[in-house]
Amino acid sequence: MESNSNRIPTHVAIIMDGNGRWAKAQGKERFEGHIEGVDSVRECIKAARRNGVRYLTLYAFSTENWGRPQEEVNALMELFCKSVIAETPELKKEGVKVVMIGRRDRFSEKVCSHLEQIESSTAEGENLTLVLAFDYSSRDEITVAMQRIAKQVAEGQITPEEICEQTIAQNLYTAQIPDPDFIIRTSGECRLSNFLLWQSSYAEMYFPQTMWPDFKQEQFDEALEVYAQRNRRYGKL
Ligand code: FPP
Repeated sequence: MESNSNRIPTHVAIIMDGNGRWAKAQGKERFEGHIEGVDSVRECIKAARRNGVRYLTLYAFSTENWGRPQEEVNALMELFCKSVIAETPELKKEGVKVVMIGRRDRFSEKVCSHLEQIESSTAEGENLTLVLAFDYSSRDEITVAMQRIAKQVAEGQITPEEICEQTIAQNLYTAQIPDPDFIIRTSGECRLSNFLLWQSSYAEMYFPQTMWPDFKQEQFDEALEVYAQRNRRYGKL
């Protein structure tokens, strides 16, 4: 699916990688990389709005990230909550609707209530949907979808034969969100790391060397130029 111009992707999804390496290269603490990374989030939201991108998904915290030292996990949660609260007025002004995807059962009550608050207070936004993948992993999402579908079969709502691709898509966290057209992973790593595996079937991929804290509006615009050169065939000629 593509936006007003077929050269602008409707949905851009980003794996924000390289905060720690950026910090280390500058002789700073890892956490300073995450702080600068929040500024990149702000910049990319602006660039997405300016270019007419309709959906921007950011991989903010993977289910695997719980395995980091407790201190870093706590600091990331704190930074995430502080940032979303601080940015809410601007997001509302800009017509940005925030949607969270991922598990909700492992956060503290405080984090949960912040997440609910940002979703409800931006629900009217019509210019850009900002999808934040938080305690998200694709295999977990697909597992949950299978459990939901199995329950529907057990309750006699559908038969096994009626299960089709659409049934699966509609039971993912992303049921209301179109598939990504363009996936960017910063820092030069070339893998998806459990991110949108089902949804990325026909997405174009881009792996710039830039570390996430250095990925600002200019780099976002450059990425869109790369996308505009791609020839998408969806398996056809
Ligand atoms: C990857 O860098 C980055 C993260 C795991 C966290 C991303 C979080 C933010 C940018 C801040 C909060 C986000 C929002 C949406 C407000 P890394 O730590 O894996 O870097 P490394 O691979 O160089 O160690």
